[in-house]
Amino acid sequence: MHVVSSANHSRKYGGITKTMNILAGNWKMNLGPEQGAVLARALTEVAPSLNKTELWIAPPFLTVASVAEVTTGTPLRVGVQNIHWEESGAFTGEISTSMARESGCSFAIVGHSERRHVFGEDDNMIRSRALAALSGELTTIFCIGETLESREAGETFRILEEQLKGILPEVSDSARHLVFAYEPVWAIGTGKVASIKEIEEAHGAITELWKSHHPTLDCPPILYGGSVNPDNFEGIIALPNVSGGLVGGASLSEEKFRKLAEISEAS
Ligand code: 13P
Repeated sequence: MHVVSSANHSRKYGGITKTMNILAGNWKMNLGPEQGAVLARALTEVAPSLNKTELWIAPPFLTVASVAEVTTGTPLRVGVQNIHWEESGAFTGEISTSMARESGCSFAIVGHSERRHVFGEDDNMIRSRALAALSGELTTIFCIGETLESREAGETFRILEEQLKGILPEVSDSARHLVFAYEPVWAIGTGKVASIKEIEEAHGAITELWKSHHPTLDCPPILYGGSVNPDNFEGIIALPNVSGGLVGGASLSEEKFRKLAEISEAS
């Protein structure tokens, strides 16, 4: 995975370049249109010099347009933090894949821990979102991860399997547009990063689950997320089964995100 290659900064569907690390910033409910454009513009200065790292950012919906405006024509990819499975209709608070694409987005995050645990989205709903995103030509970051309670009960791998089993049989044709993110719930926003061993094991388990459904297809890239910062990323990105990071808090700081990109480049 960590091979230097010439960058293929395609914004098009299917633009995942498997030799590149993905550093994806999930801005969550931070940065309005003005502040978001300022940070995105600063990142456009960073992205072109990167040889093995793609920078992706997912602003809040209302910030997407101003971010897309300053990033158009640059290697930065812009995405949404969630997506609905219908194209239009009476779904208050939701947006569709065609709206996301029209606004300049090329990827969607689906199944984020906060959607699951704060907003009560279940595996069925998340499955529908993911399949719609994939068929709507958005690269899909499919998030999974266990709670502390599940980990302590020794149920981590059962939970990962449970979260994946709805989509694994459905995605062979669209596999090249899929990215997994392993984000243990207890590591998100807590400053408590998973250990190298825990990350390696979880990513290994995801790879095995993938292979059991798709023995002849490469497993999609797997990002790690949960309290990633410049002090802990070096060991994480060095793991052969880690293809990048899904970053919350540290992605709101130009300096920290730039440092993470530098660490990825040096990996
Ligand atoms: P933090 O990096 O703030 O822990 O958030 C991780 C995350 O949820 C990214 O999607």
